[in-house]
Amino acid sequence: MASYPDVMEKLVSLSKRRGFVFQSSEIYGGLGSVWDYGPLGIELKRNLQERWWHAMVRSRDDIEGLDSAILMHPRVWEASGHVGGFVDPLVDCKTCKGRFRADRLQDAQCLKKPSRKPGEHSECQLTEPRQFNLMFKTHIGPVEDTSAVIYLRPETAQGSYVNFLNVQQASRQKVPFGIAQIGKAFRNEITPGNFIFRTREFEQMEMQFFVEPGTDMEWFETWKAARMDWHRSLGLDPDRLRFHQHGPGELAHYARAAFDIEYDFGGTLGPQEVEGIHNRGDFDLAKHQEFSGKRLEYVDQAANKRYIPFVIETACGPNRTLLALLVNAYREEAVPGEQEGRTVMGFHPAVAPIKAGVFPLTKKEGQPEMADRIAADLRKRFPVFYDDAAAIGRRYRRQDEAGTPFGITVDSDSAKNDDVTIRFRDDMGQIRVGTSRVAEVIAAYIASDHATADSKLAVRP
Ligand code: GAP
Repeated sequence: MASYPDVMEKLVSLSKRRGFVFQSSEIYGGLGSVWDYGPLGIELKRNLQERWWHAMVRSRDDIEGLDSAILMHPRVWEASGHVGGFVDPLVDCKTCKGRFRADRLQDAQCLKKPSRKPGEHSECQLTEPRQFNLMFKTHIGPVEDTSAVIYLRPETAQGSYVNFLNVQQASRQKVPFGIAQIGKAFRNEITPGNFIFRTREFEQMEMQFFVEPGTDMEWFETWKAARMDWHRSLGLDPDRLRFHQHGPGELAHYARAAFDIEYDFGGTLGPQEVEGIHNRGDFDLAKHQEFSGKRLEYVDQAANKRYIPFVIETACGPNRTLLALLVNAYREEAVPGEQEGRTVMGFHPAVAPIKAGVFPLTKKEGQPEMADRIAADLRKRFPVFYDDAAAIGRRYRRQDEAGTPFGITVDSDSAKNDDVTIRFRDDMGQIRVGTSRVAEVIAAYIASDHATADSKLAVRP
């Protein structure tokens, strides 16, 4: 793979300035590795999640949606292996009070200056590694004794397993079929960081596909390919996407086979997992059957047999995928004839938070009123930003930074001819379009993969 530049620091600053991502509780000094999504960030995240939901649930008849609770019966996490095994080895430094993963000391930085790896300063005093459970514990009800301990879920998957029969029977699905969820998950990560890459509160978009044993590897391959196609459809550079196969030492306790989809974030972070695809065998349903005492078998009446299905899981993180979209979109470029260059967030139009900026060229000749009417009309279909402040070049630049693919400008000819200019973010080219066709033309470009003026789309004024 090529080596890509490190844009993380620039992204953190752009995200705050433009309203993609803010640090949680910033006015109190912030809360470590917890982030809030601002006006542009939430639109981007919703677009991502809606595309996933459409691809996984609405466009198929063999996957059902579910929204299970974050709080679950504590036995769930015993059955799943999380109480006993969802641990990282932790070491503390008695001198600098830093806390590190014992198996990742090579990638960590001691808190003392000049910064080195933990253990490399003469004063470093590292403790023996101890096992640290990543689940957040809390108490349910008013009594804080051990019988009231529950956990914030570290993954959405278990909600789908414990509801396997509820969903199958309510929807009258036959194996093979899937259950999909989007929801929050929590992990008390020892070494979170890299902006929103690894955080303690995050979201997951997970799908559990229940199949007959023996057909599992075929389905595994099908889902691997489908999920890679989905990431490409977001406009992520295909050269920066790749599979990483888990070797025997890397496989999670539940997995028979696992591949990650990795995106190359550039800089020191490099290629990292954005999604995991796992063949979980019958591990989860068998464990829940054992711990709950309830049968979790599928009865195949046509073939007159019953079995515990195997599960193929696709587990994607929207926060990480959103970070990949930010990294992928960020570019700085020179503008011919201008001294200052521009920063562009070149999102695929379908995921861009705002689809169009609407600008009256001047505040005269009824241009603001006409622009306002156009913006109101477009808002019925797309998120739109109306801006009449500052020189037109500055207004274009502001929308370039927000990743808005189209700019609609009302000028002195607009009232006479009942038309406007559509300016394209990526090549800054322009076309003239009749006012009544603006929404239709923009919708056609959003649906296409080439939102530039010279893409010769078969939509003409
Ligand atoms: N149910 C399987 C499971 O949870 P995982 O690989 O631990 O598998 C799936 O998580 C996805 O969730 C990851 O690929 C990643 O995108 C996201 N994810 C996991 N931990 C995360 C964290 N601490 N911060 C942000 N995203 C995380």
